[in-house]
Amino acid sequence: MVGDRGVLGIGMVGYAFMGRAHSQAWRSVGRFFELPWTPRLAAICGRDRAAVAAAAERLGWAAWETNWKRLVERDDVDLVDVCTPGSSHAEISIAALEAGKHVLCEKPLANSVAEARAMAAAAERAAAGGVRAMVGFNFRRVPAVALARQLIAAGRLGPLRHVRGAYLGGHALDPELPLIWRLQADQAGSGALGDLGAHVIDLAQYLAGDRIAGVSALTETFVRERPLPGGGGGRGPVDVDDAAAFIGRFAGGALGSFEATRVAAGHTEGLSVEVNGALGSVVWELGAFNELRLFEAAGEEATQGSGRSRSPGPTTPTPGHGGRTGTASATSTPSPTRCATSSRRSPTAATRSRPSPTGSRCRRCSKRRSAAPRRAPDGRRSARDPEVR
Ligand SMILES: NC(=O)c1ccc[n+]([C@@H]2O[C@H](COP(=O)([O-])OP(=O)(O)OC[C@H]3O[C@@H](n4cnc5c(N)ncnc54)[C@H](O)[C@@H]3O)[C@@H](O)[C@H]2O)c1
Repeated sequence: MVGDRGVLGIGMVGYAFMGRAHSQAWRSVGRFFELPWTPRLAAICGRDRAAVAAAAERLGWAAWETNWKRLVERDDVDLVDVCTPGSSHAEISIAALEAGKHVLCEKPLANSVAEARAMAAAAERAAAGGVRAMVGFNFRRVPAVALARQLIAAGRLGPLRHVRGAYLGGHALDPELPLIWRLQADQAGSGALGDLGAHVIDLAQYLAGDRIAGVSALTETFVRERPLPGGGGGRGPVDVDDAAAFIGRFAGGALGSFEATRVAAGHTEGLSVEVNGALGSVVWELGAFNELRLFEAAGEEATQGSGRSRSPGPTTPTPGHGGRTGTASATSTPSPTRCATSSRRSPTAATRSRPSPTGSRCRRCSKRRSAAPRRAPDGRRSARDPEVR
């Protein structure tokens, strides 16, 4: 539990992709937001002594451990940040909660329903003692997404009819991509469904303020064998999905349709959600981070149907931050609001649009918006690439 020292001691397990991103966030969050406690990067944990020591030095952690059980027991750790593959989420999170530590666990929460239920029960027991638990659904904190939720909760869209979501990536298109943990069920639990689909499902339920009550789904593994990691030769079976598509019904009656894929050529971070109600629609796409397209059906015939872009300004509250402007995620640096463009496209057409390989120009300021690169400028693969995650 947080003591009276005004410090929240962080202990993080895993220090690769999300570990680096979370380290950056823990280092900087207190310099941007006014927080009740100052995060202190107390200790990180990895299994390789030399590598974790080097990571601690590079990422700014005061100490390191090679066994997560010792990390959880440390007196200077108040919150355990779980940045490991899904196969260890349940064990680490439950142990931390039982030790009275707050938990931030990366998505997908667990690799099975039984594990998820055990984690939820442990979180409920711990909550009675004031311990908090949360999952790393960072897209909820995008200001445009927060605004969409406010509009929907205020009834601006009326009763909801459709919730549509997709996370389209091409990360596993290359059949020679090695059989990394993300492609193995014993570690990842599932493929595109848990990796990308988890965000879509969370956003859909968060925006709708409702739960999906039933689904009918298809999954497919297109590349069934891949090279074993390490370059020593040989191939192994892929036992997770490359793609998942499903329809569902929300408890309140809205219909849902969802897609998650790692094999959609031309896409990197193709995350989008659209909510259609009896009175209007909203559309948010990750590629247009700070824009929310709002369509309102009410009005005169001549103007009805016009789309309007909404760009959250400095007063747009991000839930949980006392009404201050938020940023994309706990893992990103605060960014200024991008300029918005008026859009006369229908929300549906907007959602279907494909990213231009060269980017597009803002109609107001003529500045070029960049298209999401498949490779970072220095030639490294993008952060979403399974090889670097
Ligand atoms: N919220 C997001 O947008 C987002 C994005 C990417 C990944 N993730 C999630 O974050 C989690 C980690 O993914 P990643 O991309 O950082 O993976 P990664 O492969 O880059 O890093 C995993 C880390 O866990 C460590 N690890 C594995 N088992 C361990 C154990 N038993 N004890 C200690 N360390 C252990 C590895 O050594 C490595 O440092 C996954 O659940 C993933 O789905 C979330």
